[in-house]
Amino acid sequence: MKEEPIILGIESSCDETAAAVIRGRTLLSDEIVSSAEEQALYGGVVPELASRAHAVAVDAVVLRALARAGVKKEELDAVAVTYGAGLLGALLVGLSFAKGFAYGLGVPLIGVDHIRGHLAAAYLEDTTLRPPFVSLLASGGHTAVLYAESETKFEVLGGTLDDAAGEAFDKVARVLGLPYPGGPRVEALAREGDPVVPMPKMLKGVGGYDFSYSGLKTYIVNYVHTMEQRGAPWSRADVAASFQCAALDILAEKAVEGALEKHVPVVTAGGGVVANGYLREKLQMGCEKAGLKLVLPEKKHCTDNAAMIAAEGLVQYRAGNFSPLSLNAEASIPLR
Ligand code: KG4
Ligand code: ZN
Repeated sequence: MKEEPIILGIESSCDETAAAVIRGRTLLSDEIVSSAEEQALYGGVVPELASRAHAVAVDAVVLRALARAGVKKEELDAVAVTYGAGLLGALLVGLSFAKGFAYGLGVPLIGVDHIRGHLAAAYLEDTTLRPPFVSLLASGGHTAVLYAESETKFEVLGGTLDDAAGEAFDKVARVLGLPYPGGPRVEALAREGDPVVPMPKMLKGVGGYDFSYSGLKTYIVNYVHTMEQRGAPWSRADVAASFQCAALDILAEKAVEGALEKHVPVVTAGGGVVANGYLREKLQMGCEKAGLKLVLPEKKHCTDNAAMIAAEGLVQYRAGNFSPLSLNAEASIPLR
């Protein structure tokens, strides 16, 4: 096994077809093609359209990643690919391609859990990063504060009891009449408003890490309907700003609390919601105040990408965890 293996990462779990090449923790290339614009016409991701877009794009995206990295395919030491969670048809495109590529080259296949990929993005941001640390995970499907004991083992300290943070952003975007994908649109609208609309409390229980987004979402739906029924004036931008604070303040607070409780000096974060500028600022301020180091992946490595899949591939490579060619795609994988 090599110290600094060259790994190709492939991601196709949702509407992004992505490929990246790393040598050790050094990122050599990072390519992505998205079908989000096409999906926006339908208000969300249409699985069949996503699968077809992946099938059209995957070959060229992988070849471009190799070319930009200046790496010949024969130089690869492993092929890492997302096998779940995600849309089955979409996953199968990337997974089948990766299997064929790995088999043809005679190198190991590494099936990567997409969520662990989001967490591994921090390893590319700070190549000296070592566990233990506390990590905030906030994506379209998961929201949790995790304690990473080692590169392969983490404990869930707490998280959402219902909707994920990204899901809440997407739903609130719809109520505010914003197109898919909702998160960045809500963030942009929030910049034009002030957080002056009172929002319900996010925390469930006292002193714990668990919180709930469904109450917040329902509150906003009711608020908008009530104001419209009454013909009362209300500001979409103020609602967006108020929602953003309510939804994200708690995440930054809980991540900092987790690190202090576990006595670890470092906080990391990952997942699409971590691309949010307000959350990034809150994390920065919270960590600075508590004397914690913050490792924040750059925005394009928070939303779906293949660099993070290659990074998690490296973790599994070093742990000797390789996958059989019979590996199947999984629509959901429990957080573990
Ligand atoms: O990690 P990701 O790209 O895909 C999943 O694995 O789910 O996360 C997507 C989620 C979506 O719900 C999207 O609305 C949200 O991340 N998101 C954001 C922002 N960018 C993406 N939420 C808030 N602010 C953003 N700037
Ligand atoms: Zn993701």
